[in-house]
Formats: sequence, structure tokens, C-alpha cells
Amino acid sequence: MIVNNDKKNIDLAVTLLQEGEIVALPTETVYGLAADATNDVAVDKIYKAKNRPNYNPLIVHVSDIKMAQEYCVIDELSETLMNKFWPGPLSLVLPLRTTKKISEKALAGLSTIAVRAPQNSFNEVIKLFKKPLVAPSANISGSISPTNAKTVKQSLQNNVKLIIDGGNCDIGIESTIIKIENNKLHILRPGGITQEMLEKTLNNVEIINVNNKAKIEAPGMLTSHYAPDAKVRLNVCEVHEGEAFLAFGKEKVKNSNKAIDMLNLSETADINEAARNLFNYLSQLDKNNIQAIAIQAIPNIGLGKAINDRLKRAAIRK
Ligand code: TXA
Ligand code: MG
Repeated sequence: MIVNNDKKNIDLAVTLLQEGEIVALPTETVYGLAADATNDVAVDKIYKAKNRPNYNPLIVHVSDIKMAQEYCVIDELSETLMNKFWPGPLSLVLPLRTTKKISEKALAGLSTIAVRAPQNSFNEVIKLFKKPLVAPSANISGSISPTNAKTVKQSLQNNVKLIIDGGNCDIGIESTIIKIENNKLHILRPGGITQEMLEKTLNNVEIINVNNKAKIEAPGMLTSHYAPDAKVRLNVCEVHEGEAFLAFGKEKVKNSNKAIDMLNLSETADINEAARNLFNYLSQLDKNNIQAIAIQAIPNIGLGKAINDRLKRAAIRK
């Protein structure tokens, strides 16, 4: 059931979570499928509803630094970043404290946890719940992440009872996942907090993009991910017969007028607008009568890095 984002439904979501149910909630990045992070049975429901492989750990969502401190050990650099970017789209991988129990299922056997404090009503739900919530994106594993309530419903169908409709997500792309190691900042997944923003906050700290390496440190960095059913062709200079076209900016692409269907991520080449539209437009173009979705090049700056990361994975055949 899709319901309005009001006080009554926030309370209902909290009650369901207390009963060990799973609910879909909006965040500033994408919609999340939330469960009590300390309840094995509830966490298991997430893996089942999403058909998520059990070796892929979940992000633990907290209301603030104080709650995070109860569950993980926070170094100085990580705390600086939390102070600067929380609540917001930054997840930090940190050593787990074993005194308070996060469900082992949610951690997939790791001795670290990824923590993030989300914004808006999701944060309100955690405050009322008084405990962390795990929340992966509210979609079937491997497919496009949802940035509105309707696509949550389309992906998860009856596997979720309650979906709170918070409209379109402000950022539209998942959180950045980082890890501090030997005073170096490793970006495990590019996302809503850009490399440029991190550089500005942490002067003289080396930044390493782990993301490009073959080894899966853990994140949604499984090879094929964020993938529509249709084939995806990247950095196109020409649209082929039978293709749908996802444009960016005003620059012309050969035969774009022959595309079966066409959407523009941002007519004004605004990278933030493109991120906001990305998953929604990919779903809209993903019809079974097309040869492929042809996608125009997107500059690799700011949120462009996260967009290109998602597109690269979307282009790998399932
Ligand atoms: O913006 C977001 O982060 C959204 C919203 C709902 O908060 N959530 C999200 O969750 O994107 P999910 O499950 O789709 O992606 C979480 C990623 C996974 O790829 C997982 O491998 C990684 O976080 N992760 C979780 N715990 C980790 C850990 N201890 N070390 C490294 N990566 C971890
Ligand atoms: Mg996901």
C-alpha cells in the first residue's frame, strides 16, 4: 500500500518496524527498504523480499553520530566527515563494536559496518524507533534503484506492505561509501557526496577510488547492477535502429530523431538534475520492444562520477 508521508503513517511505519515487519521509506538518495537492524527475522525478510544474495551486507542507518558511536568505533577523520555531511548521502565503513548487537545476517560476516544518517522522514522514523534500521534500496536485487514510490511498488510488488510516498528523491543516486585506512580515504562506491566535496573538507588526505578495481570490497559493486532489462549502450555518437535514446544536454547526436523513445536527463546539462532523473528515466525507457537504450556521454565530474559508475554496471549483461 502506498500512503502519504504524514505523522500518522510515520507512526504506523514505526509500529510495523517494532513488530519485525519491513517498510519502504523515502530518503534523499533513493527509496530504502527498512527493517530493525537488531532483529534477525526482520533482516531476513529484506533479503527474501529483494532476492538479495546473503553475502552482500546492508547499510546500518542511524539518526546521528551519537547513535553511530554505540555500534562502531569512529576515528577522527570519519568524525569530521560525519559532522560535515550528516544527515546526508555519506556511508562510512567502520570497525564494529560487539557490545551492542547488530544482526549478523545484516553484516554478512564482516567485522565492519557501513553507517549512514539519512535525512528527512527516514531520520524521523529512526529517532522514534530509537534503534538503527538497515535499509538497502527498495528494489529487486540487481535492478534499477527506485526514486519514487510507484517504482518501489513495481519492483517489490506485494513483498512490501507499506510504502511511504515522499515524492521524488532529491539526489536520486545512492550514498557515497567510504572507508578510512592508514589516513587515506577509499571511495568504495561513488555517490551523493562527490569526490570534490570530500577533497574540500579533508585537505591533504589522499583519496583512492577502490571502485575501479576488480576485487569486490563489498559494495553494490557486484558486476551487473542497477540494470534495466533492455541492453544499454554508452557514450553513443549515433542512435541505431530500434533503440531508445537517453540524452544529456543540447549537443546533437546522429539519428536521435529516429529513436523509438527519447528522454533528456538534463536539457541544460545540469549534472545534479541528471542524477535526479537517472533511475526514473532508465525505467521509463526500459520497454521490451527496443533493441537497446543508447545513452549520451555524461561528464565525469561531480555527481557525474556516480552516474557513470551506475551506467557502467547497467551496461553489463545480467
Ligand atoms: O543511499 C543509500 O545508501 C541507500 C539508501 C536507502 O540509504 N541504500 C543503499 O543500500 O544503497 P544498498 O544495499 O543498495 O547498498 C549498500 C552497499 C552494498 O553494496 C554493500 O555491499 C555495501 O553497501 N556495504 C554494506 N556494509 C559494508 C561493509 N561493512 N563494508 C563495505 N561495504 C559495505
Ligand atoms: Mg541497491
